[in-house]
Amino acid sequence: MLRLETDRLLLREFLFNDWQDVHEYACDPEVVRHLEWGPNSKEETIKFVEGTLACQRERPRMVYEFAVLTRPGIDAKTPPDQTKLIGACGLRLLNHNAEQAEIGYCFARRFWQSGFASEASQALLKFGFANLGLHRMYATCDNTNIGSSRVLEKIGMRREGLSLKDRKIRGNWRDTLHFAILKEEWSNINPSE
Ligand SMILES: CC(C)(COP(=O)(O)OP(=O)(O)OC[C@H]1O[C@@H](n2cnc3c(N)ncnc32)[C@H](O)[C@@H]1OP(=O)(O)O)[C@@H](O)C(=O)NCCC(=O)NCCS
Repeated sequence: MLRLETDRLLLREFLFNDWQDVHEYACDPEVVRHLEWGPNSKEETIKFVEGTLACQRERPRMVYEFAVLTRPGIDAKTPPDQTKLIGACGLRLLNHNAEQAEIGYCFARRFWQSGFASEASQALLKFGFANLGLHRMYATCDNTNIGSSRVLEKIGMRREGLSLKDRKIRGNWRDTLHFAILKEEWSNINPSE
């Protein structure tokens, strides 16, 4: 099983039994406010987790979806010897040969604004560039999703553009921000990696 570690987080591949923890945030209307999916029914969350398991078996592998857990002692509400699943993040290859991938993430509300999304996304960039040998990684977010655009800037992504009214979310056309980072840009800001 693939595992990525940061100072405070453990990113590991999903297990079926994670679905209840995922559902805690995937059914929260505030969490999915800027997203095209959700709020999830129990069945939709189970389908999502089953989809991540199917991706683990795919060859060549195109999608890496990670459950994000706090390391023991990080979450004050969780017993000090236990981890807590706080969200998900992932990387989707554009195609087999492009050496490019899109990243995404979603976290439970009570863990927002603690730097966890930035920490997990940094780990995704390192995994993509250092382990998968990618050339470019990119991401999109709703123009009004301030938290997500801050995460992308914070991890060193450049804003590449804005698409007007290209996504319909719950009946309303929304504008999408585009961000990206090249391998050489990532290496320049992370010389020790
Ligand atoms: C977007 C999301 C992932 C951000 O997660 P997070 O863990 O709060 O992000 P971080 O704590 O790493 O924040 C990074 C920066 O953004 C800021 N930030 C985060 N949310 C913010 C908000 N709602 N408004 C203003 N700033 C915000 C943080 O303060 C931090 O800034 P700083 O480094 O200057 O202090 C989280 O809100 C989330 O899961 N939202 C629901 C799903 C979603 O929208 N996913 C993204 C789809 S594109």
